[in-house]
Amino acid sequence: MKREKNFGISGERLKYGLVGGGPGSFIAAVHRTGIDFTRAADLVAGCFSRDSVKNRTAALEFGISNDRTYSTFDEMAKREAARDDGIDFAVIATPNNTHYAASRAFLENDINVSCDKPLCFTVEEALELASLARDKGLLFMVTYAYTGYPLIHHARELVRSGQLGAIRVVMCEYPQGWLSDRTEDSGNLQAKWREDPAQAGIAGCVGDIGTHVENLAHTVTGLEIESLSATLATFVEGRTLEDNAMITVRYKGGAVGHYWPSQVAIGHENSLAIRVYGSEASIEWEQEKPNVMRMMKKGQPPMILTRGGPGLGRAAARWTRIHAGHPEGAFEAWANIYEAFCNSLKRHIKGQPSDDLEYFPTVIDGMRGVKFIHDCVKSSKADSAWVNGASQYCV
Ligand SMILES: NC(=O)c1ccc[n+]([C@@H]2O[C@H](COP(=O)([O-])OP(=O)(O)OC[C@H]3O[C@@H](n4cnc5c(N)ncnc54)[C@H](O)[C@@H]3O)[C@@H](O)[C@H]2O)c1
Repeated sequence: MKREKNFGISGERLKYGLVGGGPGSFIAAVHRTGIDFTRAADLVAGCFSRDSVKNRTAALEFGISNDRTYSTFDEMAKREAARDDGIDFAVIATPNNTHYAASRAFLENDINVSCDKPLCFTVEEALELASLARDKGLLFMVTYAYTGYPLIHHARELVRSGQLGAIRVVMCEYPQGWLSDRTEDSGNLQAKWREDPAQAGIAGCVGDIGTHVENLAHTVTGLEIESLSATLATFVEGRTLEDNAMITVRYKGGAVGHYWPSQVAIGHENSLAIRVYGSEASIEWEQEKPNVMRMMKKGQPPMILTRGGPGLGRAAARWTRIHAGHPEGAFEAWANIYEAFCNSLKRHIKGQPSDDLEYFPTVIDGMRGVKFIHDCVKSSKADSAWVNGASQYCV
C-alpha cells in the first residue's frame, strides 16, 4: 500500500532526503545544486556520512533538524516513511557498494529514488530494483547526467527523425587523466574507494566512466548492443582495477561502435565525446564544449549548431535555460534531469501522466549499465572474446 502523500501543501515543492554528501565529498553537492536550479524540491532529511560528527556537520550546513538527521539510510527510510511530511524521494550519492541496499531500503518503504551510477554490483540486483520500483509504482532515476544537455536531446531527435540516415558507426570516448599515477595513495578520497573492488565493484574505469559512455551512446542512437569485445588494462602499477578500456561493439541491426573510457589519459580532464556517423549525415559533440555540436550532411559544408541557436528542435528548446551565447554547463544538465524527474514525480503523485518521463535516465538505463560492466569484464578475461549479447540488453 502506498502511503498517502500531502503533496501540494508546501507550495508544490517536493521534499527529498540525501544519502552521502558529507564534508569532503564530491557529487552530492552537484545533485543538490542541480535540484536547487529547478526550485522543485527541498532538502529536508539526510544520512550524510557514517561518521557521526561529519553527519552532524553536514546537517548543520544544510539546515537539517536533528530529528531528520539519521545515522543509517535504513533508519532514514523507515522513519521518513512513517512521517506525514516524509520525503517524496531519496537521493543516493554514496560509493557504489551502498547503491543496492540504500535503493532497496527506500523502495521498500514506498519512497521514490534517484541513485547515482553504477546502479549496483550485479545484474540480479539491478533486476530486483527495477522490479520493485515497477511493482510499487515508484519512479527511479539513475543520474547519467550527461543526457541532460540540450544538444544531446537534439542529437537524439536528429537520429529518431532519420536526419542522419541509417546509423553505421558510433565512436564514444571518455578520457580522463586524474588516475595516471597512484592518486589513491595521495589522500584523495574519491580515488581511494574507486580502486577498491569492495566499494567500486568488479570494474574500475569501466564502472566509473565506461557506463557513461555506454549510456550516452544508447541515449543518442537508441542502438542496442548485440555483442562486444573488451580489453581492460591496468597501467598503473599496484592498482587492482583497470584504468583503461578499449571496447568494440556490434549493435543489433548492423551498426558498429568503439568505446574508450580511460583514466590514465594525461592531459584530459573530463573529455566525454561522441561522434555518430549515418548514411546521410554525422554529428560530433564534446562534453567540455557542450553548447556546440557539429553536423556534417553529405555533400555539404559542416554546420555548427549552437544551444539555443537556430535550427534546433523541440527537445533542445524545452531544456535550454538561457539564450544562446550565454554558456550553459554541467549544473544545467543536472538540473534538466532533475526537473524532468521532479515534474514527472509531481504528476505521478497526483495520478497524472507526464511528458517529461523520457527526459531522465531510469533504473532500466542503470540495469543496462550493470550488464555492460559485466560483459566487458567477462570479455576481457577471455582474451577479449566476443561476448554474445543478443537480446540480453532487452530489459
Ligand atoms: N553521475 C555522475 O556524473 C557522477 C560523477 C561522480 C560520481 N558519481 C557517482 O557518485 C557516487 C559518489 O561518488 P563521489 O565521488 O561523490 O564519492 P565521495 O567519496 O566523494 O562521497 C561519498 C559520500 O558518501 C558518504 N557515505 C559513504 N557510505 C555511506 C553510508 N553508508 N551512508 C551515508 N553516507 C555514506 C561518504 O561519507 C561521503 O560523504 C559514486 O557511485 C560515483 O560513481 C557519479
